[in-house]
Amino acid sequence: MGGKKYFDLTGKIALVTGASRGLGQYFGRALARAGADLVITSRKLESLNEFKAEIEALGRKVLPLPLDVLDYDNIQNVVDAACDYYGKIDILVNNAGVNIRKPALEVTWDDWNTVLNTNLRGAFFVAQAVAGKMIPRQQGRIINIASFASVSGSANLAAYCASKGGIKQLTMSLADDWGKHSVTVNGIAPGYLKTELNKVLYEDKEWVERILERIPLKRTGRPDDLEGLVVFLASDESAYITGQTILIDGGISTGAVRSAGQKT
Ligand SMILES: NC(=O)c1ccc[n+]([C@@H]2O[C@H](COP(=O)([O-])OP(=O)(O)OC[C@H]3O[C@@H](n4cnc5c(N)ncnc54)[C@H](OP(=O)(O)O)[C@@H]3O)[C@@H](O)[C@H]2O)c1
Repeated sequence: MGGKKYFDLTGKIALVTGASRGLGQYFGRALARAGADLVITSRKLESLNEFKAEIEALGRKVLPLPLDVLDYDNIQNVVDAACDYYGKIDILVNNAGVNIRKPALEVTWDDWNTVLNTNLRGAFFVAQAVAGKMIPRQQGRIINIASFASVSGSANLAAYCASKGGIKQLTMSLADDWGKHSVTVNGIAPGYLKTELNKVLYEDKEWVERILERIPLKRTGRPDDLEGLVVFLASDESAYITGQTILIDGGISTGAVRSAGQKT
């Protein structure tokens, strides 16, 4: 007996930024496994080409395009090239991001600009360019990659937390702007996950222990913990959800802080 196939992305085109490594590749892989064809972007074409081969082996089409989200003209050209190739973009995963970890007193003007302009300005102008193609078709899914830092502050992360707090607000604002065109805008906010961006932290056993005390599910996240949500938010089944930033953080944002040995 044939039934509805949920979360099917067959025939959809997804553009993923920051797809040369890390979470961007997990998001791209998950969308491709659910049936989407991809546009993969980052500043490193060589890494994109390696990833392209992996995705093509799944039977999906892939267009790798070099993109620096700090470059406005580059953003417009990439979005145009993607639409020329596929005729449309259905899904955007706004994932490119950087972090500069420093005490606030040591943050330079250039550090601040690099983090804010990559994580927040870049995400906005990529979303704006892609929405310009989605709105005439009256459909689209924009998924911004936020962070636990979108809802919490942290020493040594002033610029990063400001950028990710901004992403959460941007997500709500764009959802309000573009909802009338059936373009949804949501955020995925990962908690503590180990990737290239932060692997050095995980070498500090005491730090890992301290973090685990605060995580109700008692483990740090794995990138594959994020896959189901990205597919859901990209799918037709999430059509009535917009403006939300969903935390995938093992519960750390519940605020449960326990000292070692404390039972409740
Ligand atoms: N890892 C975590 O625990 C965690 C937790 C919460 C949120 N996040 C967020 O998840 C996203 C991915 O993080 P990740 O851990 O996968 O980091 P990552 O391994 O360092 O990857 C970052 C990606 O962003 C791209 N990128 C950086 N600057 C760019 C620019 N100017 N233009 C275009 N692409 C650029 C990089 O590509 P190229 O260098 O090839 O250009 C790379 O593909 C980020 O937004 C991050 O803030 C991560």
